[in-house]
Amino acid sequence: MTRQRHGVMAFGGTFFLILLFCLPALTQEKRTAQETAYVGADTCKACHPELFEAFRKDTPHWKSYEDPKIPPERKGCEACHGAGSDYKAMNIMKDRNLAKQNGLIIYENEEAIKALCLKCHKKDNPYHSVPEFNFNIAWKSISHYAPK
Ligand code: HEC
Ligand code: HEC
Ligand code: HEC
Repeated sequence: MTRQRHGVMAFGGTFFLILLFCLPALTQEKRTAQETAYVGADTCKACHPELFEAFRKDTPHWKSYEDPKIPPERKGCEACHGAGSDYKAMNIMKDRNLAKQNGLIIYENEEAIKALCLKCHKKDNPYHSVPEFNFNIAWKSISHYAPK
């Protein structure tokens, strides 16, 4: 009985040691998963209500936001601005550089914006069927980032 108990304890100890060694790896893996987490446009809405409204009226992209077949990295605010889990906190968001370090993607010039659109608006993209993409027309026809 005592021997058996001892054996169980020894096993428990070994298990604990293994766990101890694995723990950093486990938590690290969890962190990477968290870094790439998509939080959804509703989270952005809390602090950017006007932009959310504009996005909602921007029907083509809103339609894909509501389509469950389209994965989170291809829809909503985060399809263009990057996964929000790490930058969505107020103290990070209000610091532009810190937000960028935490995954926020912003577009500083027309070339960058055009490259963004063309990531999806190309012929071989299975998620949409726009045959010809005219940047100047398309840019004017979507709302929140349209010229003020
Ligand atoms: C807790 C409030 C909060 C949440 C949640 C939030 N933001 Fe922000 N965001 C801010 C603040 C504050 C600023 C800086 C001031 C401003 O431009 O309104 C900002 C700025 C931005 C900018 C402009 C950066 C620049 O300088 O050009 C973008 C783009 C942005 N947020 C996108 C998002 C997206 C996408 C989400 C959802 C994943 C989101 N935000 C969620 C508060 C928030
Ligand atoms: C189709 C891509 C796309 C989507 C979807 C998108 N954005 Fe943007 N966003 C951009 C681009 C491009 C700019 C830069 C516009 C400019 O410089 O005039 C921008 C600019 C911004 C800015 C800074 C300029 C401003 O108008 O205050 C904020 C904040 C922002 N977006 C938040 C959001 C939020 C919140 C959502 C979702 C409700 C969203 N965006 C959805 C592409 C997108
Ligand atoms: C993450 C992918 C993605 C990005 C990035 C993206 N779009 Fe779209 N866009 C879509 C999808 C999906 C549709 C729906 C079209 C369809 O189903 O045929 C669409 C539709 C549109 C439409 C309506 C159809 C048309 O071509 O007249 C316009 C306009 C448009 N997008 C403009 C833009 C502009 C401008 C940008 C860059 C600022 C942009 N999009 C970036 C995915 C994207």
